[in-house]
Amino acid sequence: MSLKSAIQIERLPKHIAVIMDGNGRWAAKRSQERNLGHEQGAVAVRQTVEAAAEIGIEFLTLYAFSTENWNRPKDEVDALMELLVRSIHNETPTLMNNNIRLRAIGDLNSLDTKTREILDEAMEKTSKNSRMTLVLALSYSSRWEITEAVKTIAKAVQQNQISINEISSKTVSEAMNTNFMPSPDLLIRTSGEYRISNFLLWQLAYTELYFTDVLWPDFNKEEFYKALIDYQKRERRFGKTSQQLEKILN
Ligand code: FPP
Repeated sequence: MSLKSAIQIERLPKHIAVIMDGNGRWAAKRSQERNLGHEQGAVAVRQTVEAAAEIGIEFLTLYAFSTENWNRPKDEVDALMELLVRSIHNETPTLMNNNIRLRAIGDLNSLDTKTREILDEAMEKTSKNSRMTLVLALSYSSRWEITEAVKTIAKAVQQNQISINEISSKTVSEAMNTNFMPSPDLLIRTSGEYRISNFLLWQLAYTELYFTDVLWPDFNKEEFYKALIDYQKRERRFGKTSQQLEKILN
């Protein structure tokens, strides 16, 4: 029986972020090239996007390529980019049929022209879709994003659009690349690593973290439901006490 029936639909996280890790190890276990792990990883992406949209998640953010990933061997970077372009291109009709909007965060100017064009085209085409927003973090790192936000705010101060005393946490959130999305309620990381790896450092302040030993290419709908069930067992206090929360809820 599917674990789906154990999920309380009225208590779903609004935004789920995922660090998809373990593609290389999945391939190595099968004595295959790392790129086969990435190909299989794309299958897991499809399963996860489908499961999230079907159940009613509003935002799903996937860490597809980090700023640091540019340092991998050229062959692997090229294969990953080719896979991304192919997947985005092939999946755009599915995104349209399922009313899913595609967005991207990261230093998109560092992508090659072809990747950028395919991405822009898919984002434009799906921009009016409203069931779920799928966000790809591409050439993304949180320190890059925060540095850019600092520059934006410094420029606004320099041009007298805002005074230093007016800068609040809202100002910072609005200067972020992620200003169109709520903070994640749940972060999933696969492959048994317990790290955040420069992903959404500002936005994860109150996020529930879920780690699983499953390697990303083996992640599927049932694994996704497991993470949701685990999330629904947690008490989110946002710095308050349990008693305070009871008062708010009652
Ligand atoms: C981490 O595994 C995964 C990546 C660096 C890339 C993630 C990309 C995909 C899942 C491909 C498809 C994506 C989309 C959006 C279609 P790793 O290579 O770090 O694995 P390892 O830690 O076992 O070496």
